[in-house]
Amino acid sequence: MAVALESPPAAPAPAAVAPSERCYHVHGGVPLRGEIAIRGAKNAALPLLAATLLTEEPCTLENVPDIADMRTMIEVLQHLGAQVEYDPSAHRITVEARDIRSRTTPFELALRMRASFLVMGPLLARFGQASAPRPGGCAIGARPVDVHSQGFIHLGAQVATVDDRFSASGELRGARFILDYPSHTGTENVIMAAVLAEGLTVIDNASIEPEVLDLVDFLRAMGARIAWTGPGRISVQGVSRLHGTTYRLMPDRLEAGTYLLAGAITGGDVTTRDIVPEHLRAVMAKLEEAGVRVREGGDWLQVSVDGPLRAVDITTYPYPGFPTDLQQPFSTLLTQAEGESVIHETIFEGRLGFVEDLRRLGADIDVTGQTAVVRGPTPLRGSTVQALNLRAGAAVVMAALAAHGDSVVRHVHHVERGYGAFTENLLALGAQIEVADQLPEVTPA
Ligand code: EPU
Repeated sequence: MAVALESPPAAPAPAAVAPSERCYHVHGGVPLRGEIAIRGAKNAALPLLAATLLTEEPCTLENVPDIADMRTMIEVLQHLGAQVEYDPSAHRITVEARDIRSRTTPFELALRMRASFLVMGPLLARFGQASAPRPGGCAIGARPVDVHSQGFIHLGAQVATVDDRFSASGELRGARFILDYPSHTGTENVIMAAVLAEGLTVIDNASIEPEVLDLVDFLRAMGARIAWTGPGRISVQGVSRLHGTTYRLMPDRLEAGTYLLAGAITGGDVTTRDIVPEHLRAVMAKLEEAGVRVREGGDWLQVSVDGPLRAVDITTYPYPGFPTDLQQPFSTLLTQAEGESVIHETIFEGRLGFVEDLRRLGADIDVTGQTAVVRGPTPLRGSTVQALNLRAGAAVVMAALAAHGDSVVRHVHHVERGYGAFTENLLALGAQIEVADQLPEVTPA
């Protein structure tokens, strides 16, 4: 569904330094070794927090990540009137949405994060009314919300858009429909809208990303009647009310994948535990094809490198295909593989723009439309680069960790939206990385 562009958006050249800018100073070339415990998934935490609006009873989520996007979602919930108790060090949050006084998400919060739009479905379901601006978030493509609003319309809502603000209202009724695209958050929003609607809803072409399944399990724990009734088909029998519950979030497969890939690109040996290895099947298969040694246990994965890497081709695809979120980190790894790798980014048209930063570090990559050709191996050298968005940021940090010499990675607030204790975890693996408030001098390698 991504729109093809002639060429990816060019990464702007690093600009003058704002004194308060937060960046990472990385001394590369050190193989990462060790074990990291993985926390709950960002992309599960955000929809589950939105789902707490479906009941007036308190809901507690355990294993929540300590990331900036959590705090943005908390602000959204508090703005609407929910009481929130958040203990980041205990990775626990309780939301009581008894006195919801607003049905409207403010612009400032919506601009910060795409997942802010996820409160639309629950508000519409419980109060028959919801309004939110077109959401912002990572600049990785056009990212429309037509799948969300079409789903609401199928359920009987009237949806209007004025000045880029969506308003939905009406009493919802169960319906059968097919999503135009298996949008991840679109499926989540529509399921949340359907759980309190009278009658049976059957949604075809639904997203089956693991985080969607986690949301479904949480909604079931709240008393919703939901079943997967076919490939990509979900059936929701509306109930009159949902109740509070306590639920432990699924682990973050994208965080785990990032650390494993960081281990591989630095020629190290990294284990991620407290994960579901099955969630990373497509990525591990490609790693093995590239010559990386992969071992797995019930709740852990380990990667190590003891020989040269081979080029592999990748096409991103909705789950269980190769995840778009790990395309940038994997493409970065492929700069160190022997031969020519071809990457097709089919989900988000803006997720190849980061190659400009990889080139600054010495990578040899050509991009045409949504296809990148990576030729390797090329030695990487320290430079000043930037985190264009969350996953691109993680990818350039990986490249900097593998590069010879010192690098500065700017705009790391993007990375910290989605990776909790990022530098602490990398330090625990032996990385030489520090957070700086100003741009340090870079000594060319
Ligand atoms: N799309 C439409 N219409 C819609 C919705 C999506 O055309 O109404 C298109 C998009 O433009 C895109 C494709 O469908 O080309 C996929 O978008 P999708 O809606 O599936 O993605 P999303 O829900 O916006 C979530 C994650 C992303 C992750 C994608 C794909 C959350 C909060 N975000 O986004 O995570 O990349 O699914 O799995 O769950 C990240 O964590 O860094 C991140 C961007």
